[in-house]
Amino acid sequence: MKRPLIIGHRGASAYAPENTMASFKKALALGADGLEIDVQMSKDGHLVICHDERVDRTTDGTGAIQALTLKELQKLDAGSWFSKEFKGEKIPVLEDLLDCLRGRNILLNIELKNGIVLYEGLEEKILEALGIYRMEHCTVLSSFNHYSLLKIKGLNPRIKVGILYVAGMVRPWEYARSIGADGLHPIYYSVRPEIVAGAQTHQMPIYTYTVNEISDLEKIAGMEVAGIITDYPDRGRNAVDKI
Ligand code: G3P
Ligand code: CA
Repeated sequence: MKRPLIIGHRGASAYAPENTMASFKKALALGADGLEIDVQMSKDGHLVICHDERVDRTTDGTGAIQALTLKELQKLDAGSWFSKEFKGEKIPVLEDLLDCLRGRNILLNIELKNGIVLYEGLEEKILEALGIYRMEHCTVLSSFNHYSLLKIKGLNPRIKVGILYVAGMVRPWEYARSIGADGLHPIYYSVRPEIVAGAQTHQMPIYTYTVNEISDLEKIAGMEVAGIITDYPDRGRNAVDKI
């Protein structure tokens, strides 16, 4: 049986401030095979790694990312809210992470955060950055906005995209194929044996999120999914190593 890849959700967000370089480094140190990150766009068109559309929850600032310039965003402390130990962590730009991962055997899952704010040109900019850093081959793009995935496949049919969804989708591989997607990114509790079997038959890898409890990790690790997205890469590693 092929072991699932362990993908650090927003890095190792149980141990370090999510979506910071400290979190990404921690995930890799804990044995993650890949990283899941969230990308938004600043007022002046830079790709920044942040989960929320606003900076309020994860920095010492306030405001919408789309209303702040990169210079304004990078003045913010994105670490202290988590712990004093991380004071001074910055909101990373995508290119910083791509530069750091270039040439390493790491799967990068970029989630486009364009379900609430429809950032003009987000897809094009991400593809351009991946091209510059030659990271297309080891990246999977995902989004809850499936129109965006459709657009990406139109721009670059070779790039891998996966549909993010919650639960209740019937034969998700058929829907995914219909929009040209390459994989399924369901919430973990909707991953049942018949879904795994159908996805395998249709050559659709499953990357499931966000699996944090040890019992859930052990259950999913035994289900032949392609990847497990977790805040605890160490727990994920242990679960997979038991197979
Ligand atoms: O990878 C999927 C997962 O990250 C989606 O949920 O809210 O954590 O971005 P969220
Ligand atoms: Ca995400």
